[in-house]
Amino acid sequence: MKIIGKYPSTRLRRVRNSDWMRKLVSENHLSSNDLILPIFVRDGKNHIEKIKSMPGVYRYSVNKLNLIMNQVKKYKIPMVAIFPNTPENKKNKIGSEALNENNLVCQSIRYIKKRYPNIGVMCDVALDPYTSHGHDGLLIDNKINNDKTIEILIKQSLIQAKMGCDVIAPSDMMDGRVGLIRKALDKNNFKDISIVSYAAKYASNFYGPFRNAVGSNQNLKTNKKTYQMDYKNSTEAYREIGLDIKEGADIVMVKPGIIYLDIIKNIKEKFKIPVFAYQVSGEYSLIKNGIQKKIINDDAIFESLIAFKRAGASAIVTYFAIEIMKKLKKIN
Ligand code: PBG
Repeated sequence: MKIIGKYPSTRLRRVRNSDWMRKLVSENHLSSNDLILPIFVRDGKNHIEKIKSMPGVYRYSVNKLNLIMNQVKKYKIPMVAIFPNTPENKKNKIGSEALNENNLVCQSIRYIKKRYPNIGVMCDVALDPYTSHGHDGLLIDNKINNDKTIEILIKQSLIQAKMGCDVIAPSDMMDGRVGLIRKALDKNNFKDISIVSYAAKYASNFYGPFRNAVGSNQNLKTNKKTYQMDYKNSTEAYREIGLDIKEGADIVMVKPGIIYLDIIKNIKEKFKIPVFAYQVSGEYSLIKNGIQKKIINDDAIFESLIAFKRAGASAIVTYFAIEIMKKLKKIN
């Protein structure tokens, strides 16, 4: 890029001098259309339970989902993502609760689609909320078995689709699963169900609070580095993305968010496909704690989200979705 202009005839501060001028030249915007809210669900009735690791985020019993969904509707957030906190006694080595048509995710999909038909529902496809070892796949001979895991993921996808889920989001990082899930969906007359592939998902240290929220942290004794990506790499991410697009992903996800903006930007430029960014639990809790302790001010939320737009993300999965909408409404 050639730099044009020279001081004193050029003074960039002239376009920063007033609020109205800054508005006119602003290059990126954030609205409800950019947001996806993750929601944690728990068993039992009438629970709205604080999550220790994530201040300001709650786990809802299915019959209380209306509380959060009414906010989603009010602030016109297009889609939610459902995550279950499965009771320990329903977890086992093979995560069979994932295939129970009455599990927390299936109940939530039915509840939401019945009452809020115009709000999209996205569901993770992975086994970690259901396995007694906390891994996303089947542990066979101490290894996560790729192909046997996919067989279950296909069934999990079909069940979620049957319940009314709009967007299937494989977050497991098994090789080849997007193609096989797409094939199974098409064969079963679910051609209109989209796939958002967690294509570039890194083995990150920033998932800690989430694992506490879904209750997989106490079970997980080893890391996920044999399937999630090494965060030293970027070209590998583009290979992952390319493969998932070939296999039929409609949208790709990058995760975590803020420290992976280079990946988002490059995907956008190379592949011309919608990219979602996931501002993960660790990012949320760091910012939220900083605000609560008055170390940073709460405009940091907006700053963190607009960074995704600047990098080229189409939408952002964020635990701040409602909070930022309340703030934006006040400003406008
Ligand atoms: C599970 C899954 C994880 C997240 C979303 N889906 C955790 C993991 O892979 O261990 C993390 C989300 C967050 O930290 O907010 N497959």
